Amino acid sequence: MNTTNAVFRASAPGKIILFGEHAVVYGRPALAAPLMQVAASVEITAQPRNRKTGKPENRPTEQLCLWLDAPDIGLSASLEELLQQATPPPLAIAIRSVCQALGVEQTPRLRILVSSSIPLASGLGSGAAVSVALIRALSAALGQPLPDERVNALAYEIEKLYHGTPSGVDNTVITYARPVYFVRGQVLQPFRVTRPVTLVIGDSGIAAPTKESVGAVRRLWQADPARWEKVFDRVAEIVEAAKSALESGELSRLGPLMDENHALLQAMTVSSAELDRLVAAAKTVGAQGAKLSGGGRGGNMIALSAPEKAEAVAAALRLAGARHTIISTIE
Ligand code: PMV
Repeated sequence: MNTTNAVFRASAPGKIILFGEHAVVYGRPALAAPLMQVAASVEITAQPRNRKTGKPENRPTEQLCLWLDAPDIGLSASLEELLQQATPPPLAIAIRSVCQALGVEQTPRLRILVSSSIPLASGLGSGAAVSVALIRALSAALGQPLPDERVNALAYEIEKLYHGTPSGVDNTVITYARPVYFVRGQVLQPFRVTRPVTLVIGDSGIAAPTKESVGAVRRLWQADPARWEKVFDRVAEIVEAAKSALESGELSRLGPLMDENHALLQAMTVSSAELDRLVAAAKTVGAQGAKLSGGGRGGNMIALSAPEKAEAVAAALRLAGARHTIISTIE
């Protein structure tokens, strides 16, 4: 980047997992879709900032730095200072990883502004969306815009900083911004939704780090692998049945599959009283099926609804304690 006026922007959507979370970590398939109503955005300008004050500075001086602003998480500091912290924020490590991956040895003097409307730690893919937007904007600003395949691979590396053992489903659905049938470590298979699917998403308002729920399932599995492998196999059958229902447009088959997937997630101990209450509330007003979505123990749930009933389902979810609701159509 060579002119101080250049601005590089990129954004990436949130995501929902339709079927198969947690079992996907153990090699089973999952279905996920982008959630376009929320997004993470990154804006990069070449105007350098002073490393101490964070103020714009036009003269070339030793004091210039890469300055990072992420107001949603209260971050405003130079990259150097953030990386010196005992536990640097993942965003700072992500910037360093992108520079390293692109072979950029000297920290570029840029200002990076990160913002997001995706609630944190709520199963909607906030971390992966920030990574994808960051990789796209930063690689473009550094004169090496990356193809989706590399954006996805790099976002996966960054996901490992957040999660420990991510399956890669979040970064994949967010990078390609279309519904995906995902199996860990396999090439993405095409998957088409033939009839629009209306979903109502309810946020329990409880932040729950995915790393913890993934760790809890891992402990269950370590204690009794044979039992949990069977459960994951059943989840895989549900995912295959849901894929075929979505591809053939037989949407009436989806509701019971969602209910059963939710019951298996309860058995994995990753639901919560709040999520169960939201799932029950959606069903009471006519949702055809409902389940938690994502890591669980908090975060979001999804309910399948006829389009004309979606507003009533959303209202019932808010009455049952949902902080936010989103009506979304998967197509
Ligand atoms: O990031 P979350 O909370 O949507 O969870 C991702 C789905 C999990 O299957 C729980 C974890 C993973 O890496 O696939």
